[in-house]
Amino acid sequence: MELRIGRQINRLTDRIDRYVSNNDGQQQPTVLNMIKLYNDYGLSVMMSCMFSIDTIDVNSGVYQSLSGILTPSHWRILLLLLMPGSLLRLLFNITHPFPSRLLDVFVQLTSEQIKQRLINNDSSTTTDTLQYGDEPKYITCDEVVANLFAMFEAGSCTNSTIIAFITYDLATNPQIQDRLYDELIANCMDNREEQLDCDRLLRNDYLDAVVAESLRLNSSTLREGRIAASDYQLGDTGIVIARGQAVEFAKHAVHYCTDYYPEPNCFNPDRFLPANRHSIQPYAYLPFGAGSLSISQM
Ligand code: HEM
Repeated sequence: MELRIGRQINRLTDRIDRYVSNNDGQQQPTVLNMIKLYNDYGLSVMMSCMFSIDTIDVNSGVYQSLSGILTPSHWRILLLLLMPGSLLRLLFNITHPFPSRLLDVFVQLTSEQIKQRLINNDSSTTTDTLQYGDEPKYITCDEVVANLFAMFEAGSCTNSTIIAFITYDLATNPQIQDRLYDELIANCMDNREEQLDCDRLLRNDYLDAVVAESLRLNSSTLREGRIAASDYQLGDTGIVIARGQAVEFAKHAVHYCTDYYPEPNCFNPDRFLPANRHSIQPYAYLPFGAGSLSISQM
């Protein structure tokens, strides 16, 4: 997977390099839409890791539909947040943040991939998520497609959004950007001519701290929820959460709470360096959720 992601990172940096050299010396450089750039990157990573599709034509209908899934209209999201799902379905036939014909494209693409691999008995792509060399024995094809869709939707936008936020945080904190740059040059490459070493990048404490701090400041999901499995007494507050009751927590509020993070509005990666991490309290840092449903448990 690292190799696949590395290839997409190289394409992304090539695109940025091209943009910079085309604008070099121009008084009014053209504006680069970073979110679009990172969305393209997120989509390419998912296509490569899930289906071994390494290049996808950005002008193709499939590409347009998949990026439509990842950039849903704001009014649809608002409706889904504000109105009960059953009412939305009844009144407007809305079930997703994007039109269902886009979902059909994903289903068609995935089903086609499964069919091709079954026909070809193809085991050469076993490093991708689909890993389909044989007849499915334990789950149905529909379940495979549904799980892949959950991953595609949950994995693409979260990634591109946080990269965009990190770019912003570094641009607005140039001293931290310089420190990160110096750290990576010193520790992740042997000479200036070669590319950064992916293994060493993944083990770099300061890069890790920068990402962690940006995830604290910029939650990619608004809220997370759980349904209580049994009655639960909430400390000595006198409040009892009844079995079956939905509970939602606003992690943004926790991430900005001064009880847990001094100067919470300040972008300060040092909080997450190994020497300081122990002072982060359990459940006060929730970018990936917590408990058995969090991403780290996948
Ligand atoms: C910066 C990147 C990401 C962030 C911030 C993020 C955030 C989250 C959060 C907050 C949840 C809910 C967890 C909970 O309820 O406790 C979640 C669930 C999930 N995420 Fe991510 N995610 C990221 C990347 C990814 C990637 C790359 C994938 C897949 C390749 C992925 C797949 C999933 C799936 C499948 C779930 C549902 C887990 C379940 O309900 O059992 N996420 N993510």
